[in-house]
Parts: sequence; C-alpha cells; structure tokens
Amino acid sequence: MASDLGETSIEAEIARETWITRLGFIFAVWGSMTGLGNVWNWPSKVSLLGGGPFVLIYLIMLALVGIPVVLTEFVLGSTFRRGFPSALKRIHPAGEFLGWFCMANSAVLEAFYVVLIGYAAVYAGFALTGLQLGGPMGAAYFTDQPEFFVNLLMSPLTLVGLIVVWIVVFAIDYFGTKGIERSVMIFFPLLWIIVIGMAIFGLTQPGAAAGINFYLNPQPNQFFETKMWSTAVSLSFFKLSAGMGILTAYASYLPRKGELTNSAVTTSLLDTTFAFTAGLAVFPIAATVGVLGDETVGSVGFAFVAWPGGMTMSGGNLLGFVFFLMIVFLGVTSAVSLLEAVVTAVMDKFGWPRSRTVIVMTIVMFLMGVPFTLWMAAPGAAATDVTWGLYLLDIFDYYVENFGLVLVTLFMMLITGWVWGGAKIIETANEAGDFELPSWYVWVIKVIAPIGIIAAFAFIVLSIFLEGLYLAGTVLDLIAPLVWVVICAGAAIALTMAKGVE
Ligand code: TRP
Repeated sequence: MASDLGETSIEAEIARETWITRLGFIFAVWGSMTGLGNVWNWPSKVSLLGGGPFVLIYLIMLALVGIPVVLTEFVLGSTFRRGFPSALKRIHPAGEFLGWFCMANSAVLEAFYVVLIGYAAVYAGFALTGLQLGGPMGAAYFTDQPEFFVNLLMSPLTLVGLIVVWIVVFAIDYFGTKGIERSVMIFFPLLWIIVIGMAIFGLTQPGAAAGINFYLNPQPNQFFETKMWSTAVSLSFFKLSAGMGILTAYASYLPRKGELTNSAVTTSLLDTTFAFTAGLAVFPIAATVGVLGDETVGSVGFAFVAWPGGMTMSGGNLLGFVFFLMIVFLGVTSAVSLLEAVVTAVMDKFGWPRSRTVIVMTIVMFLMGVPFTLWMAAPGAAATDVTWGLYLLDIFDYYVENFGLVLVTLFMMLITGWVWGGAKIIETANEAGDFELPSWYVWVIKVIAPIGIIAAFAFIVLSIFLEGLYLAGTVLDLIAPLVWVVICAGAAIALTMAKGVE
C-alpha cells in the first residue's frame, strides 16, 4: 500500500477522515449546493431575466463553465487530500494566498448567510406557535407580511435567529464527516419530499397558470443579451458552491480513487432540478394569493414577504411552517459545508485538533455575522434597506458574490489548468470515472471555462462604469468594498505568512 501514497505521509493518510459511502459524499455536496439560493435567487433571476430561455442559457453555462469548475475543485481535493489553501500551495507557493483569500471571502459569505437562515428560523417559530410567540408581532405574521418583516428586521430577534442556527451548524460539524453524512442522509429525502409536495400543492391552486406564466414566460431577444449569460455564470458559482473551497474540502475526504466525473454532473444537475421544482411551488402559490409582481420578486422581500404571505394565506400556518423549515434545513447543510471548508484549511495548516478548530471558527464567524443583524434604522441615504444589518448584508453580498467568487474561481482554474496541468485533471478524473472524459475536454477546462468567467467578470466591471457603484447612495457604499478587500487580502497575507506545521 505504501507505494500508493505518493507524497502524502502515512500518518496523514491514516488520520484523514473519509466518507462512509459514496452516496454520503454526493448527498453532502448536494446539500452544500442546494441552499437558500434555490428557493430565492434562482427562481427570481429566472422570472426577472426571462423565464424558459434563461433556464436553457443556465444549462449551457453549467456545461461549459460550472461543471468543469466543480470537477477541477474535486480533483484538487482528491489529489492532494488537503483543504483549499494547502492543496493550491502544492501546485505553486502563491496558490496558498489565493486559497486563504478564498477562505476569508467565504467566511464573510457564511457570516451573513447564517443571518438569513436565522430570519427563516424566526419565521418557522412564528408559524408554529403563532400568536403566543410575539403578541402584536405574531398577529402581523398572519395579517400583514411586509409589516412583520420590517418588525423582525428592527428587533433583536435577528440576533436570536443567528444564535439558534449557529448552534445547529456547530453541532453537526463538530462531528466532522460523520455528522455531515448522517445529517444529509436525513435532509436529502426530507427536502425532496417537501419541495415536491409543495410543487404539487402549488400546481393545483387556482393561480397555477398565472404563476407558471410569470416564472417561465420568455421575453423578446433575451438570447442576445449579455446580461443573461453573465448572470448565468455568477449565479451558477453561488449555486454550485464554487470558489468557496468547499468542493475541495469535501473531495479531500474521498477514499483514494473516488469517482469524480459523474459526481460533478449529478450533483450540479440535482441542484438545478431542485431549484426548478421550487419555482414550480412558489410562483403558483404567490400568484394565487396575489402577492406576485416584479417589485417583490428581486429583493429580500421576495423570500420574506411574498413567500410567507403566499404560504400562510393559502395553506395556513402548517404550510408556512413546513416551508420555513425547508429553508432552514437547506441553509444549514450549506452553512455546515463552509464551516467545514474553513475548519479543514485551518487543521491542515496548523495541525489543530478538530474540536478546537470547530469551536474557534464558529465563534469567529458568528462574531463576523453580528453586524449583519444590527436592527437600528439605516441612514436615509441607504434607504433601499431598512436597517443597518440589511444594508450591510446587501452590499457585502454584492462584492462577495460578484467579485470574490468569480475572481477566486478564475485564478483557481488558471493555476490548476495551466500551472499544474489540464491533462492531469482529465487523467485523475478518468482514473475512477463512471465515464471517460475525451482528451479534448482539456480545452474546456483550460480555455473555454476561463474565457466564460472572464467575460462574465468584464460585464460586472462594465456595469459599474455604466451604472455606478453598487447602491451608490453615500460614501458608505465606497467604504464597504474597501472593508471587504482589506478583510480578504489582510487575512490572506496573515495566514499565508503564519507558520504552519506542513
Ligand atoms: N449554494 C448555496 C445556495 O444556493 C450557497 C452556498 C453554497 C453557501 N455554499 C455556501 C452559502 C456556504 C453560505 C455558505 O444558497
């Protein structure tokens, strides 16, 4: 056996956890990919950008960019059996900087993402216990959704939700792959049952036709709009957990010669299918109760005003409860995956034991999340968002997704495809693939996917020149991106320079 171990030491080989089953790995990756974005970003982008044709564009970009990226991250993890920074470091010393930059960007994402799951947890609590929970606030849950949402944002319940969700995320990840695998074995079937049940319910409501029409109706000329294609790329990265170091971390727990190719395709398509099905559930229900409109769809209000309105008004609080429970579970499996990606990276570099690493990283990311819960009213100029917390969330989300994920993914593809070698990626995938990748696929990885990413990024930068900085209300909108850069680059420099055990 020892000759099989290549450059990894025998101790490290023995110490590294592994998934118990192949299904466990696939479900865990799916759990990471499938999150709030499926119920919220995906359907709202599809409906706003033009329905059915956007779905087609999304699938094309999935094949040309998304799936090659997922496969590359898998190969990194399974080859080096390390978290993202250490794996990239083995290719080139500068790779470690990229790896830590990615982890810091991901940590910001995690920080506010858990806040959003926290909102959903509060909603689930109100749906379940109804009026007893909050006096007049509870009453608003049933009668006045916008009012309820604003009340929630302006109350410390945002912080309560954050704490509750972090406890759950911590408890799962504390047990490492075992905790993750056990939980997704339950969540996977449960979530599919809920979403399919809700789709059937939605499609049998009186508003079904109007809802589906709103969701999938094509608009003229959209195939030629650059925005369609670039949105498909950046949305697919958020959806697929790409550029977050997660896929590498999860693949690093595969036994030697684990299957990667089919796993990349299956998980990506399962994720899209879940998102599509969620759209079939939510639009008909929202149309039935008359809360569907362009102005509600694009915003946070879509998730927390239109949906709860629709769910509770058409199906009573039981449906509302099930819906928000689904959101919480969807979110938790994603949040766990990112905590695990950071935990692995720290354990690999510093040799800390799992228990200490999970505790420290949970505390760090929880504290980073607290500013996103701030319930004081935001200054007038930032009036698109009600509170400081939501304002910060909105603006950091923009930079994390459009700059962080996209740039990390681009450089990861370039380093892996060109410095390490695209041919090695194909070779590794083919060692144990359910099906064989043809040799020309190397060009998809080395050239086509990077060009797709560069084009999407160019469009994002161009839109800043044309439309101004995101939100562009006060000087704060300029400070936020600077803070983001300082956090990510600062953490990356410090952690790269820090002395590790490797
Ligand atoms: N794919 C998730 C979604 O659609 C987003 C996501 C993936 C995520 N991994 C994450 C969010 C880790 C936070 C932390 O919602």
